[in-house]
Amino acid sequence: MISATQKAHIRPVHPFPARMAPSIVWDALPKQGDSLTVLDPMSGSGTTLVCARMRGHRAFGCDTDPLALLIARAWCADVDPEGVKSRAELVLEWAMKLGNRLTREKSYPTKADDETRQFIDFWFDSENRRDLTALATCISRVRSESERIFLWCAFSRMVITKTAGVSLAMDVSHSRPHRTYTVAPVKPFNAFLKAVTTVVNNCPFKMNSSVASSASIQYGDARSLPIEAASVDMIVTSPPYLNAIDYLRGHKFSLVWMGHRISEIRALRSDNIGSEVSKKSFLNSAIQKTMEAMADLDTLDNQHLGMIRRYVWDMNKVMKECARVLKRSGRAIFVVGDSAIRGVFVKNSEALIHLAKIYDLSLASRSTRTIETRRRYLPPPESDNSGQKMNGRMKEEVILEFHY
Ligand SMILES: C[S@@+](CC[C@H](N)C(=O)[O-])C[C@H]1O[C@@H](n2cnc3c(N)ncnc32)[C@H](O)[C@@H]1O
Repeated sequence: MISATQKAHIRPVHPFPARMAPSIVWDALPKQGDSLTVLDPMSGSGTTLVCARMRGHRAFGCDTDPLALLIARAWCADVDPEGVKSRAELVLEWAMKLGNRLTREKSYPTKADDETRQFIDFWFDSENRRDLTALATCISRVRSESERIFLWCAFSRMVITKTAGVSLAMDVSHSRPHRTYTVAPVKPFNAFLKAVTTVVNNCPFKMNSSVASSASIQYGDARSLPIEAASVDMIVTSPPYLNAIDYLRGHKFSLVWMGHRISEIRALRSDNIGSEVSKKSFLNSAIQKTMEAMADLDTLDNQHLGMIRRYVWDMNKVMKECARVLKRSGRAIFVVGDSAIRGVFVKNSEALIHLAKIYDLSLASRSTRTIETRRRYLPPPESDNSGQKMNGRMKEEVILEFHY
């Protein structure tokens, strides 16, 4: 098990918007005793899973975003740093040779359709497009899946950056990409080995170390979890906020190189919890009451009411699933921020409290903490009359603990 002093050294392998503060998980997990089964049903970059492993527990994570799954798998895996670095050197050598032979027409990921090619043309200059095609091709040919995960994670680190990366955009890591450059400031062949070194150095679990815990991360929808009933001791999760972050807007910059088409990513995005796109949802009395607890509904138009209804509809399913997989006597911790829609304060946390009650999860504690500036991704309240008080509350996150 890893000691408390080491928690300060939890370093991410890849940027991720609205990552959970590791100290929340760390402090919530039992310090000693039997190893527990800990689940994060919307695991994102894997903060819960890494902390649970570090504390000697069995960690399970699910997410629907392929890039989140990749990052969490890399972060939680047992790494052989020297082995991965030597593989990366070979991959770079092959990619440089392949890059010399690639024509402009062939400089796209193999499965890219017209729409995906247009996206790539807009956001990547032609030289980087060729070199990224060569690198992506060579990474996908690496036989060892575990090595491939680290190499893709390093590849993606060069793409998803705040200021200077291999694309023409800035702020990709904040999911707010805007085209800034005419030539990308970073060349993939120059940056790849450094990115690999950062990834493997930041992985806390080294191959052949004495850490006995495990982590299993799989594609899974939190509204219908691929997990047995009554099998989990503890859930620690931070669900998406209503309308706050479009994770895939930034993530698609990497995902297109890994063989995903823009149309697939769009479909995934529209089905994600908290997305702005309004899909069908239904109103029943539980949903209506939950919505009333969240905001002054009279001040919102039909489009925004539809968004809130869909969020509650989805989170109701998530809560039902959490209650199903949790053992009797289990604990569930939800970390969530509140939102603002057109200057109306929307209490996502109240929604969770209401929904938990339906499934016999009783609220054991509610606390708030200030979100550190660098972890803050929420859009500011839009209206002039939203006021100081609301601004303050938008900078907080709410930690809810439920007991069965
Ligand atoms: C706030 S982030 C989680 C961040 C995570 N705690 C971390 O520290 O990196 C919310 C996550 O929920 C995921 N998500 C959205 N809809 C989902 C669904 N239906 N099932 C599972 N995960 C989903 C998103 O892809 C995103 O990774």
